[in-house]
Amino acid sequence: MTQIELRNINKHFGPFHVINNVNLTVKDREFVVFLGQSGCGKTTTLRSIAGLETIDSGEILIGGTPVHMLKPEARDVAFVFQSFALYPHLTVFENMAFPLRAVGMAKAEVAATVERVAGVLQIRPLLKRRPSALSGGDLQRVAIGRALVRNPKAMLMDEPIGSLDAKLREEMRVELKRLHVEQGSTTIYVTHDQIEAMALADRIVVMHAGVLQQVGTPAEVYANPVNLFVAQFVGSPVMNVADVTVSGAAGAGLVTVKGASEGFAFPPALLAQVPDAARALKLGIRPEAIEVALTPAEGHLAAEAHIVEPLGSHDIVDIRVGDSLLRARTRPGFVAGPGTPVWLRLDPTRAHLFDSETGNSLGIRL
Ligand SMILES: Nc1ncnc2c1ncn2[C@@H]1O[C@H](COP(=O)(O)OP(=O)(O)OP(=O)(O)O)[C@@H](O)[C@H]1O
Ligand SMILES: [Mg+2]
Repeated sequence: MTQIELRNINKHFGPFHVINNVNLTVKDREFVVFLGQSGCGKTTTLRSIAGLETIDSGEILIGGTPVHMLKPEARDVAFVFQSFALYPHLTVFENMAFPLRAVGMAKAEVAATVERVAGVLQIRPLLKRRPSALSGGDLQRVAIGRALVRNPKAMLMDEPIGSLDAKLREEMRVELKRLHVEQGSTTIYVTHDQIEAMALADRIVVMHAGVLQQVGTPAEVYANPVNLFVAQFVGSPVMNVADVTVSGAAGAGLVTVKGASEGFAFPPALLAQVPDAARALKLGIRPEAIEVALTPAEGHLAAEAHIVEPLGSHDIVDIRVGDSLLRARTRPGFVAGPGTPVWLRLDPTRAHLFDSETGNSLGIRL
C-alpha cells in the first residue's frame, strides 16, 4: 500500500508562496496528474515529495509514514526528470543497472531485473546500444526504465514526454498508460498539457499560483469546473466565456449576452437558482454545447457565422453574439463559410454560470 499524503504543505522561495497550503491524498496505485501553467508550483511540489526540496511547514506521508524529515534516498520514490540525463558512455543495460548496482544488488539479480523492466518497456533490443544511438522516444523509455528497476514505492514524473514531438508524445502517452495498468505503481505525473492530463489521469489536480483549484476525475473537471480558471484551462478549444444577464419572461429563464438584443431560452429552474439576478455573471459554454441550425427553429437565436475553421473531424465556427464571439463545434462543412446565417441554441444542461468578481462557479445544474 503506497498512499501519498500532503497535509497543509507550504513553501516559499523568498517572498513567493510557491506551495500554498496544499492538501492532497493520492491513493494506492492511483495515477494523479498535476496540471497547471508554467510557474504554478508543479515541479516544486513534486520535488518536495521526493525530498529534493524542503518544505516550510506541513507533513508529507508515504505509505502512512511521515517522510518530510527524511533524505531523498530514504523515501523510496523514483523521479523521472524532464531533462533526463543518461550516462553517455554506458549502454542502455548499464544505465538501467546503475541504480541497482549502487545499492549492491547481486549481478544475476541485476541482469534479471533489467531484462524484466526492458521487456515491459519493449526496449530489450536496445540494451547493448549507447544513448547516442537512440531516438528521443527510446531515450525516454530508458529514463523511465532506470526509474522503474528499483521497484519504487511511488513514481514521480515531471513532464517526462514534454520534449518529444507531437506524434511520439501520443505514442508515449499510450505506453505510459499501459505501463501503469501493468505495474500499478502509485504515480504523480506533472504536465501543463491538458490533453495529456485528460488521457492519463485517474484524477487531475489543477494548480494555479501554488493553490490547488480542483481535484477530480477528468470527466468531473471537464463537466463541472469549480471556477473560470479551471473552466478555461481544461478543454480544447477553450470554453466560451461571455458577460451575461439573467432575467425571466413568461415563466422562462433568459440568458442575454452583453450587447445582444435577444436572450437564450433557459428552463425556468434557472431563475430559482440565480438568487440575485442583478449580479454580474459570466456564462461558460463549451463549443460542443452550442447547437447550430441553418434554418430558424423554436428557441434558437439568429446570428451570423464569422469564421469557419475546418479541423478534419469537425469544424469550429466563430459566431458573433452581442459583444462576444462564441465558438461552436459542428460537423465538417455544416456551415458553408463566413457570413452564413445561423440559428443558435445553448444546451442548458451543459451551461455554466460564474460570478464575474470571484470567478467561482455558481454550481447551477439544469
Ligand atoms: N530554486 C528556486 N529559487 C527561487 N525561485 C524558484 C526556484 N525554483 C522555482 N522557483 C519559482 O517558484 C515558482 C514555481 O516553480 P516551479 O518550477 O515549481 O513551477 P512549475 O509549475 O513546475 O512550472 P513549469 O511548468 O514552467 O515547469 C516559479 O515562480 C519559479 O520561478
Ligand atoms: Mg516544472
